[in-house]
Amino acid sequence: MGRFVIRPVTPGDRDAIWDIFHAVVSRGDTYAYPPDTTRADALASWVDGARATFVADGDGEVLGTYYIRTNQPGQGAHVCNAGYMVAAAARGRGVGEAMCRHSLREARRLGYDAMQYNLVAATNEGAIRLWERVGFSTVGRLPGAFRHPTEGDVDALVMYRRLADVTG
Ligand SMILES: CC(C)(COP(=O)(O)OP(=O)(O)OC[C@H]1O[C@@H](n2cnc3c(N)ncnc32)[C@H](O)[C@@H]1OP(=O)(O)O)[C@@H](O)C(=O)NCCC(=O)NCCS
Repeated sequence: MGRFVIRPVTPGDRDAIWDIFHAVVSRGDTYAYPPDTTRADALASWVDGARATFVADGDGEVLGTYYIRTNQPGQGAHVCNAGYMVAAAARGRGVGEAMCRHSLREARRLGYDAMQYNLVAATNEGAIRLWERVGFSTVGRLPGAFRHPTEGDVDALVMYRRLADVTG
C-alpha cells in the first residue's frame, strides 16, 4: 500500500463508499445496520445524515471511510459518535488507525468533548485493540446485545474517549 490522504467526502466517492459499506454490513458481524441495508439508506446514513464524512484516498482509490455524528441531542450533544470501515484489501496497513486519529482531531475541531462507540461487538477483537491503542476505554459491556450471525448473541462494548488532550 502506498500513501494515502484523509479528506472530506465528495459526490464522486459515493459508489466506492457503498461498495465498502455493503461488503462490511452484509456480513452482519460488526455493525448494527441491517445486512440488507440498501444503497440509498446506507448513503443517507453514512454520508448525508452525518455531521462529517471523510475518506482515506490512496492515489484516487477510496480505501476507507468514517463519519462523525452527534451521539445524543440536548444535554448529550457534546459527545459524538463515529464509525469506520476499511476495504478488505486495504486492512492491516494503518488506514483504520489513521482515520481514527484523524476523527479525534476533527471531532475536537467540531467542538465535541468526547467520542463514544455505542455497540462494539466483543468478537471484533482487532478493532477493540485498535480503539484501545488510540486511547478509548471500555466503559460498559452489554450482555448479549450484539446478534452475531455465527456466534449467536455476543456482548457489545461501549467505548469512550474524552478529547481534552487531543491537539492539532
Ligand atoms: C476495524 C477496521 C476499521 C480496522 O481498519 P484497518 O485499516 O485494518 O486497521 P489498522 O491497519 O490501522 O489496524 C490494524 C488492526 O485492525 C485489525 N484488523 C481487523 N481486520 C484486519 C484484517 N483483515 N487484516 C489486518 N488487520 C485487521 C488488526 O487486528 C489490527 O490490530 P492489531 O495490530 O492489534 O492486531 C477494519 O478492519 C474494518 O473496516 N473492519 C470491518 C468494519 C469494522 O469492524 N469497523 C469497526 C467497528 S467497531
